[in-house]
Amino acid sequence: MEGLESIQKDAQKELEKISNLKDLEAFELEFLGRKKGRLTAVLRSLGTLSDTEKRKVGPKAQILRKDLEGAIKEKKSSLKRGDIDSRLEKEKIDITYPGLKDPRGHLHPITKVRREVENIFGAMGFEVASGPYIETDFYNFDALNIPEEHPARDMWDTFWLKGMTYALRPHTSPVQIHYMEKHNPPFRIIAPGRVFRQEATDASHDFDFWQLEGLMVGKNVSVKDLKYVLETFMSKFFGKKVKLRLRPSFFPFVEPGFEVDISCVACVAKGCSVCQKTGWLELLGAGMVHQNVFAAAGYVRGEYTGFAFGVGLDRLALMKYKIPDVRHLRTSDIRFLKQF
Ligand code: PHE
Repeated sequence: MEGLESIQKDAQKELEKISNLKDLEAFELEFLGRKKGRLTAVLRSLGTLSDTEKRKVGPKAQILRKDLEGAIKEKKSSLKRGDIDSRLEKEKIDITYPGLKDPRGHLHPITKVRREVENIFGAMGFEVASGPYIETDFYNFDALNIPEEHPARDMWDTFWLKGMTYALRPHTSPVQIHYMEKHNPPFRIIAPGRVFRQEATDASHDFDFWQLEGLMVGKNVSVKDLKYVLETFMSKFFGKKVKLRLRPSFFPFVEPGFEVDISCVACVAKGCSVCQKTGWLELLGAGMVHQNVFAAAGYVRGEYTGFAFGVGLDRLALMKYKIPDVRHLRTSDIRFLKQF
């Protein structure tokens, strides 16, 4: 029979070295295992001893068993505590560590231009108006003096919806009608907004772009007012004195109608590649509101006069920022957008 002293010594030595729960389990098995435990063997063989021996060894063996059980229990809980400590150590958060910076975006060039345009016109007393993207024929064409079957409708390549009952607006001019239906002159408005045209794209055309509509109506509004307002706007927008040139043109909703050129902002009317050596840039359509348009909006024919203009907001952005292709404005390419 193995002596209790050697069992105790071994147990003490081994227990000190144990650093994980698995080893502790093996240790328990070695000394207290039901089948092969060293101390279990001693306890089991007590029955073979004489009474005096039994009385001498028995209590000591029981004490050793209790001691071992207690030591194992203690070790177990300290190992578990160690586990938690090391997890805490591993997972701790350093709240003093500098945070990750969220990349900060900025406004799209179209939005910048729109806001700038709104500010400049706002300073001249123009209010901002808006209308829906989906319009009926009445607002897109009829009310603007473009009757059904009239060839002038071909000027707008329209996206029809629902069997030609509705269409995406191909210009912002319908906003004129919406506004006049609800307001009486005198007034001054601009209507920046998205428009849609069914056409092939190239560097200067897109099927989805922005327009800026302008409308000023009152008792004695004339071409002079049109010219003054546009010239003032262009000069403020481009940050230099800009001259205007009006050429006769046709839009069904104005009479007379003009094609408006501005003096080249790249070369100041000397002639360069931007203006193809003419010194002028063709920029917008404009004119005096046709009385048929006033009538369609519910005004008394001949009571008011007014001017209207329509200009591509994209076009203004291209010129201001020297962007070579209008389609860049809608690709959402971050490398392009970062430049503004
Ligand atoms: N709506 C016209 C277009 O899209 C532009 C325009 C507006 C012309 C107002 C004259 C007056 O082509």
